[in-house]
Amino acid sequence: MSEQALRVIVTGAGRGIGHEIVRAFVRQGAFVSLSDIDGAAAEQAADQINAELSEDRVRAYEVDVADVEAVDQMMDDFSGHVGPITTVIANAGVTVYKPFLETDVDLFDRIVGINVRGTYFTAQAGAKRMVENQVPGRIVLLSSVTGQRAFRDFSLYSTTKAAVAMMAQAMALELGEFGINVNAISPGAILTERTRREEPEYGPSWAEVIPKGRVGHVEDIANTALWLASDASSHVTGQNIAVDGGWLTYGRIP
Ligand SMILES: NC(=O)c1ccc[n+]([C@@H]2O[C@H](COP(=O)([O-])OP(=O)(O)OC[C@H]3O[C@@H](n4cnc5c(N)ncnc54)[C@H](O)[C@@H]3O)[C@@H](O)[C@H]2O)c1
Repeated sequence: MSEQALRVIVTGAGRGIGHEIVRAFVRQGAFVSLSDIDGAAAEQAADQINAELSEDRVRAYEVDVADVEAVDQMMDDFSGHVGPITTVIANAGVTVYKPFLETDVDLFDRIVGINVRGTYFTAQAGAKRMVENQVPGRIVLLSSVTGQRAFRDFSLYSTTKAAVAMMAQAMALELGEFGINVNAISPGAILTERTRREEPEYGPSWAEVIPKGRVGHVEDIANTALWLASDASSHVTGQNIAVDGGWLTYGRIP
């Protein structure tokens, strides 16, 4: 293993944005822990990426990020095999559509458990290891433009994503002295298997309201994650970077 190789944790990476983030890091020569609550999806995604490279750089793990102990065990196992963790991409998150008046406590606790507690403690588990190993690492959290604008039926999801954006600021403040940068990415509308399944016209309908004239692609987010993990962004920390084709920049007028 090269001394320079990144050793990267990506959660919720069996499909969608996380999957593409793993592929992007592996193409740069990184070793990656690809975890997902769906163990079969994690195995399949890791096998596919390793086969593309004809090299075993991705290790698959079945991990629910709401289970803090399982996240810890995954990080210990991964670093036991490839060395100290340099980079954490806390990507796992669940999108939920529910009217505010119908959101109950069980749903609230489940989604907060994944999107807020899962993201917070995944970042903390990575940060503790970086501090212990004196690795000036990088932590990237997945927020959302919905954490900055209100959408119908998104009161719960938006609340969790606003919390994730604040985590980047709060963690950056306390981890700066260790050389660790923490930033959030706020994807806009991104075309994935899930969003296409939920809305067959997802791409064209979003293209109409996005200043860049197209929906976002998983590569747009993966490229931003790569930049935030690279020396090119070494003085960028505590930020929440919208990758949305300019959608957040304007407000509708009557
Ligand atoms: N796709 C978008 O348009 C969009 C926009 C804004 C933000 N995001 C955020 O980006 C991240 C990835 O989104 P996506 O669209 O690729 O999602 P996705 O639903 O396509 O994939 C998410 C993956 O996470 C896994 N997962 C679900 N619960 C988990 C848990 N408890 N522990 C571990 N893994 C779990 C799923 O099995 C799935 O493989 C999420 O945090 C999401 O909120 C996505």
